[in-house]
Amino acid sequence: MDNTAADFKNQWNAELYDSKHSFVSELAANLVELLSPKPRECILDLGCGTGHLTHKIASLGAEVMGIDSAPTMIEQARKNYPHLDFDVVNARNLPFTEKFDGIFSNAVLHWIKEAEEVIIGINKALKPGGRFVAEFGGKDNVKAIVSAISSALQKAGYPADTALNPWYFPSIGEYGSLLEKHGFHLTFATLVERLTPLEDGEQGMQNWLKMFANNFFKRLSTDEQITTLADIENQLRPTLYKNDTWFADYRRIRVIAMKP
Ligand code: BEZ
Repeated sequence: MDNTAADFKNQWNAELYDSKHSFVSELAANLVELLSPKPRECILDLGCGTGHLTHKIASLGAEVMGIDSAPTMIEQARKNYPHLDFDVVNARNLPFTEKFDGIFSNAVLHWIKEAEEVIIGINKALKPGGRFVAEFGGKDNVKAIVSAISSALQKAGYPADTALNPWYFPSIGEYGSLLEKHGFHLTFATLVERLTPLEDGEQGMQNWLKMFANNFFKRLSTDEQITTLADIENQLRPTLYKNDTWFADYRRIRVIAMKP
C-alpha cells in the first residue's frame, strides 16, 4: 500500500492526532475557562479524544470522566493520563442520570448528526442546575475547504453526494432552538470565524484532509486520491496558504446552556 492509501486509513489514529493535530485541544484552553470547573465538581468531558482537556479540567480540582466513542482515542488517553477515568461511550446514548455538575465538549459535536439524541442524553446526565459548555463547528464551517472538495470530486467524475459529508454544522438559531426544546436555558451563544493554522508546513492541508475529511475520498482509487488532493490544494492555496503555513477556515459555535 503506498502512502496515500495508508494515510486514508488513519482516521482516529491517536498518535497522529496528538502529533499533527494538537492545535485542536490547544485552541480550546479558554473553553475550559468558560466551563470554570470548581474543586470537587463532577464533570464529564464528552468526546475527550486523547485526554488533554480532561487533564486540564482535573488539574483545576474537579473530578472528571472522559468519554469518547473511538477506542483508539481512549487507549491513548489512558496512556497519557493513567490516573484519570476514561471510558468508551457513544454520545448518542449517554448512560448517566443526574450525575454531573457540568458537561464539557470540544470539537466533537459536529461529527454527530443526531444532535437531538445527544442533547436529550446530556440533559438526563446533568444534575438540576448543571451546565453544558461546548464548542464545535457552526454554520459555514470550513466552507472554502468543502467547496474545493466538491469541485475536485466533480472534476474526478464523482458527482456530489451529500451522504458522504460527515459533518453537522448548525447555526446558533438552529442549535439554540434544539437546546430550548429540551428544556435548557441558553445563557451564551456565539459564532466566531477562526482561521486556524495547521501543523506541518506544506503538508498541513493534506494531513487535515486525510485525518478529518477521509469519508469524501473512500470511493477513489489511490491515483485519483493523489490527483484530487493536489487539485484541492491548488484551489485553496491562494486563500488558505500563507508564509509556509496552511490554514483551515473554521467557524465555531460556543454555547453555555443551563439545566433548570
Ligand atoms: C472543526 O474542528 O471545526 C472541524 C474539524 C474537523 C472537520 C470539520 C470541522
